[in-house]
Amino acid sequence: MADHRCSNGQGSPTFLETKLPFRELSLIAQADRRSNDPIYSSHRWWARRPPGVMRGLLLAAGYPANLAPSEYWRMFASEEKSLLDLRVHDLFIGGGTTLVEAARLGAVPSGTDVDPLAVEIVKHELESPDSVVLSTAAKELLGDLETDVATLFRKRTKLWTPLHYFWVRQVGCPKCGVISTLHRSLIIARNSKKSGSVIRNAELIVFCPDCLRVHLLDSLDRRQLRCCRRRDLLKGNFAAQKFTCENCGTQSTHRQLSTGTAPVQLLAVEETAEGEYRRIRQATKSDRDLSTSAREYLHDNADRLKIPATDLEKVRTDSRPLSFGISKHSELFTPRQLAVFGRAFKWIQQSDYSGSVRRALTLAVSNALTTNNALCGYAVDYGRLAPLFSVRSYSLPAVAVELNPFHPNAGRGTLRRSLEKVIRSSSVSPRRYVWSCESSAPVAKVINFARRPVPTDGVICASAAELPGTDRSGETDLCLFDPPYFDYIAYSELSEFYRSWLDQPTLGGVPLLPDRRAPVSSFSSLLSECLASALVRLRLGKLLAFTFHSNSRLAWDAIGSALDTAGLLVTALWPLKNDSHMGHHSKAGNCEWDVAVVCRRAADCVHAHFEQNIFDWVKQVSPLKICKADQSSMKLAIEMSMSRFGRVATSD
Ligand SMILES: C[S@@+](CC[C@H](N)C(=O)[O-])C[C@H]1O[C@@H](n2cnc3c(N)ncnc32)[C@H](O)[C@@H]1O
Ligand SMILES: [Zn+2]
Ligand SMILES: [Zn+2]
Repeated sequence: MADHRCSNGQGSPTFLETKLPFRELSLIAQADRRSNDPIYSSHRWWARRPPGVMRGLLLAAGYPANLAPSEYWRMFASEEKSLLDLRVHDLFIGGGTTLVEAARLGAVPSGTDVDPLAVEIVKHELESPDSVVLSTAAKELLGDLETDVATLFRKRTKLWTPLHYFWVRQVGCPKCGVISTLHRSLIIARNSKKSGSVIRNAELIVFCPDCLRVHLLDSLDRRQLRCCRRRDLLKGNFAAQKFTCENCGTQSTHRQLSTGTAPVQLLAVEETAEGEYRRIRQATKSDRDLSTSAREYLHDNADRLKIPATDLEKVRTDSRPLSFGISKHSELFTPRQLAVFGRAFKWIQQSDYSGSVRRALTLAVSNALTTNNALCGYAVDYGRLAPLFSVRSYSLPAVAVELNPFHPNAGRGTLRRSLEKVIRSSSVSPRRYVWSCESSAPVAKVINFARRPVPTDGVICASAAELPGTDRSGETDLCLFDPPYFDYIAYSELSEFYRSWLDQPTLGGVPLLPDRRAPVSSFSSLLSECLASALVRLRLGKLLAFTFHSNSRLAWDAIGSALDTAGLLVTALWPLKNDSHMGHHSKAGNCEWDVAVVCRRAADCVHAHFEQNIFDWVKQVSPLKICKADQSSMKLAIEMSMSRFGRVATSD
């Protein structure tokens, strides 16, 4: 390997500051949506960065400006450890993209996150256990659950296997006291004939909210149901966040109804059988008995279960799910789900497997919580369960869907599927996109990132603002990170759902989030503390770079002021496509581009003139498009940088 690495870096600009191929990296980020890199799917996380972009930034930061682009792309596509022993620190590790890509390039990763779940995910990604040992452990765990709790979901002898259970909630009108079945419409499922949708025994399956009878209708054109009375199929008593009492006309919110803890009724069961279409049938007494036996199981087996006994955080930026009347973590699950997951987590806790195996199992089971909780709904037209967080934040479906987590071969998010995902995550040969200089386009390539044990003791659950111990000062060669967005989405309120099951569920520090009363000063003062701590770690003459986006001027004001306080100047600015498939952030009008901000200590730089025309960027990234919201984020980034631009003071 030719060593083009920066020897010290002080006084010499890097490839990252001069020639970052942002168009090519952005095209790779876009192509990588079709790539398969299982390491990033072991557990759900919010706002993961595109791995190709992080790899590109790392490599560019590690090499001097005179590196030939062809050599850059050769290393990008190679399994060589091109950043061997470079020490890379990420202040906000999140889903771990930066550190995983760093480790794959041979670097030594370290980082912080206030969220213990993020730390567990990243540690797993960095030291995932041997997949053979993990498979054995997963089989044992499933075996235990099969004999112990799977019987709460089905009788073994049946030809039909339950897949989904449909539950309705019964709410009492606060005014007149009349109890009604909450519903948005009468439809449980329909054969939409959309591609990828499920086919069932009837075209349209509906229910009567008065007697809870399930009706199979043979035509999609039906508009009404005649049961206890005539009702429009598409009408319900819940619309626009309000329930309207059919008896007295009073409107109420979930908060007034405490819908989240209202009594529930089992309505229907969807089942599969080999060689048959799926069927949805009326729930029977024996189905109901099975689910009541879960309550007895919980009562009789309390000491064999590990179930969260904690309350939801009371101080929140988003009042859901408290506003649904849910105040305890355990209220987010059905009794059966508590039995299954309580048993699974206890089994893992008590097993003799190594820490990394237990961590991998914990993450697999935790990830399955996404599809096994009381807030899961149903995509009526596709016949699929809609997991929690598939729409922004917590939401409460009128008809809740409980998955049979032991279904052998169907269903999203069964325990088996989740375990398989984690086992696959330790695969070292993902299929990723690289740049082909010949065809001037991204091409797919299987890269074998040979296993190399990396120390993970530098990955800790703490605030980035916490100062490192003296043993860690001056030891980092590169700080690369993406701070939380300036958008009031508290990740910690989402991750709380999973964290409550962990051995160590509490945050390791104060999350960086703008305070609505003083957004700029609150964000910038905590961020500048984080930057100051990073600078204690960072060797002299080395780079600190981050990606960020916001079309709020306040956000960039906060960034600028944090850079000033920390004593940093901007030495380069680049537009980079981020992954727009990020769930929470993928709404129209939202940013699909980040700006990479590269910084150095002001003392290493001379002030320089900076001008960047946004339309040049728009032209340069063609055929990719930069929408208005992104252009405005980029403009603000440029403005922020103009008065803070520096050129590295070259030694010669
Ligand atoms: C945008 S995400 C980072 C995403 C990550 N780079 C990835 O690709 O997955 C921001 C992370 O910062 C964490 N965080 C928020 N405040 C923090 C603080 N004060 N110190 C450390 N981490 C913090 C959040 O928990 C979240 O995981
Ligand atoms: Zn009826
Ligand atoms: Zn009423």
